[in-house]
Amino acid sequence: MPGTPPARRTVLRAAALAPAVGLGLTACASDDGGSNRSAPTAPVDLGKSDDVKVGASKLYTDENVVVSRISEDEYKAYSTICTHARCPIQTLEGHKLICQCHGSQFDATNGKVLKEPAVKPLAELPVKVENGKIIAGPQNPGAGKKA
Ligand code: FES
Repeated sequence: MPGTPPARRTVLRAAALAPAVGLGLTACASDDGGSNRSAPTAPVDLGKSDDVKVGASKLYTDENVVVSRISEDEYKAYSTICTHARCPIQTLEGHKLICQCHGSQFDATNGKVLKEPAVKPLAELPVKVENGKIIAGPQNPGAGKKA
């Protein structure tokens, strides 16, 4: 029967390839939830300053930045590249940043570690408001180093 062997071969080939396809997906899908692993290397426009309410924090996942509005005119910005193994953090609950890779947590208002395995605080970024827009980054070259 001419139809039976090819169908069986097709099934066997598909079965043989399935693990390889699975490996390929595993290799492509990082456990960091994204591929951009750096904080801004140039100032980035994060949009309207009023998008961050006084007393609130906002996560900008595309830019890897979190901004907290401490008061009407005071903003704080931090890189959301986790200091444990450099995963870009994807979750903000209130002021708590939660790294999906290994569970580290950070305070978005001051960058401090709330939960290990990370031990270093998030890198602070310069932030300002220009023409009603939040401009953050890049990280100061000496940031994170002890004076
Ligand atoms: S990279 Fe964030 S907890 Fe490990």
